[in-house]
Amino acid sequence: MKIILQISAVLLAVTAMPKNSIVNLHVYYESLCPDSRNFINSQLVPTWNELMDFMNVTMNPFGKATVRSYNGPSFSQRLRNRFANQRVRPFTPNGDSWDFTCQHGPAECDGNALQSCVLKYTEDPTIRLNYINCLMQNPGEGEACGASVGQSYVPSIQACYEGLEGKALLKDYGDETLSLDPALTFVPWLIFDGEWNEQSQWNGFFALKSEVCNRLTVAPAQCQTKRN
Ligand SMILES: *[C@@H]1O[C@H](CO)[C@@H](O)[C@H](O)[C@H]1NC(C)=O
Repeated sequence: MKIILQISAVLLAVTAMPKNSIVNLHVYYESLCPDSRNFINSQLVPTWNELMDFMNVTMNPFGKATVRSYNGPSFSQRLRNRFANQRVRPFTPNGDSWDFTCQHGPAECDGNALQSCVLKYTEDPTIRLNYINCLMQNPGEGEACGASVGQSYVPSIQACYEGLEGKALLKDYGDETLSLDPALTFVPWLIFDGEWNEQSQWNGFFALKSEVCNRLTVAPAQCQTKRN
């Protein structure tokens, strides 16, 4: 009796899950966060290597950073409200650009900006993910990581990172992160198929392959085996 109840609970959980031919995954993370680093290295990359034909991964390297300075029109009132709520120091103008405060300090903001540039200027999704994985292990090593994944540290990435573009990209990532509903409370924050829920967050964090497989209408052969 107990077993039957458990089986029907599992069936219910499985049938309640939306099914798709491709799983959309948004990963909200930050460059110096150990949980993000471990997730990308031990869950995301191996799962991608097996199931890349069935996954659409979008990375957002902003995490729990806050945008501190702002000198333009559209973004300001919303941030003012947020800062009022969070009791974070309000803006100090900084020319045409932005200052960020990051959970793990200024080096993390730099890392987030570099990764924003890598994400923009690396087209191949596998190379992009490997590049990000390398940067998570070796923060700031834009050139060496580029070489190790077969994507040179092209002038566009360097110029983006050293100029204002990296900050502008990061601000856009911040905009998107701050508009999440429910608001992000952990990184990496995982959103599958456009809708966050707690069960998928933790199943994805600890067993990404099973979460992806569960969401596919027709599970491919790769899903018959456990990862590793
Ligand atoms: C992949 O994700 C991006 C970002 O959410 C989205 O714009 C695009 O339509 C998705 N592609 C597919 C095939 O679902």
